[in-house]
Amino acid sequence: MRIILAENYEIMSKKAAGFIAAQVYTKPDSVLGLATGSTPVGVYDNLIDWHKKGYLSFKDCITVNLDEYCGLSADHPQSYAYFMNEKLFRHIDIKPENTHIPDGLNDDADAVCAAYDRLIESLGGIDLQLLGIGNNGHIGFNEPDKYFRMDTGKVDLTLSTIKANSRFFEREEDVPRQAYTMGIRPIVQAKQVIMVVSGKQKAEIIYESLFGPVTPMVPASILQIVQNLVVCGDADALSIIAEKHPQSVEFV
Ligand code: PGA
Repeated sequence: MRIILAENYEIMSKKAAGFIAAQVYTKPDSVLGLATGSTPVGVYDNLIDWHKKGYLSFKDCITVNLDEYCGLSADHPQSYAYFMNEKLFRHIDIKPENTHIPDGLNDDADAVCAAYDRLIESLGGIDLQLLGIGNNGHIGFNEPDKYFRMDTGKVDLTLSTIKANSRFFEREEDVPRQAYTMGIRPIVQAKQVIMVVSGKQKAEIIYESLFGPVTPMVPASILQIVQNLVVCGDADALSIIAEKHPQSVEFV
C-alpha cells in the first residue's frame, strides 16, 4: 500500500489522474473501474485536459462503474450514468458502447446483478479501479454490514449515505433508497486500486479503514489486503494518518 499526501485537492487529483494515464498509456485497451461522487471530479478534469491536449486517448478503453441508483434513468440528472457522461465520457474519445453502468431502471435485480458480474468476468477483471470513500467507509455502495458483499447486489442505502448524498438532490426524500453496486470481489481483485480522499470529514474514516481492523462494518478496510493499493489524499483527509503513522506517508 502507498499513501500519497498532497497539499491540496488539485495536486491530489493530478497525482491520481497520472496513475490512470500511465495505465492507459501502457495498456490502451485497459479495463477501468470508475467511481462517482464529488472527489473523483478533479481526476476526471485532468484526464479530459490531457485528452484535449492530445496526450491521452481512451478509444480502446472499457469502463465499468461501481454503482447506480435504482429507479433513476440514464438521463436523470442525478443518475450516475448522467454524471459519468457529463463529468467524463462526453469530453473524451471513449466509445459509448464500451462504458458500463448497472441499469438502474431494470428492477429485475437478479438479472442485472448476474449480468454485471458476468460482464466483469468476461473482461478478465479490472486493470485499474478508481475509488472514493463514503463518510461511513463505503466503497461503491457497499455499506457497513455484517458481511462483505462479494458480488454485484441490490442494496439498501444507509441513512448516513442518504443524508450525505441529499446535497445533490432538491429534497432528502428524493434520494433513492436502493442502489445496484459492484461487490467487493472485483474491487480487491483489480490489478491496481487508486483511492482518492479529500477533506477533514474523511480523516477519521480513512485512518480507521487503513489502520483499524478489517471488518465489514468499515467496508473500505478490506483494501488492506490489496497489494497494489495507492491512496491519494489531501492534507486534511490524511491528517490523522500523517500524525500517527508519518513513516507510512509519501509527500508530493
Ligand atoms: P464523495 O463520495 O466523493 O462525494 O465524498 C464518496 C463516496 O460516497 O464514495
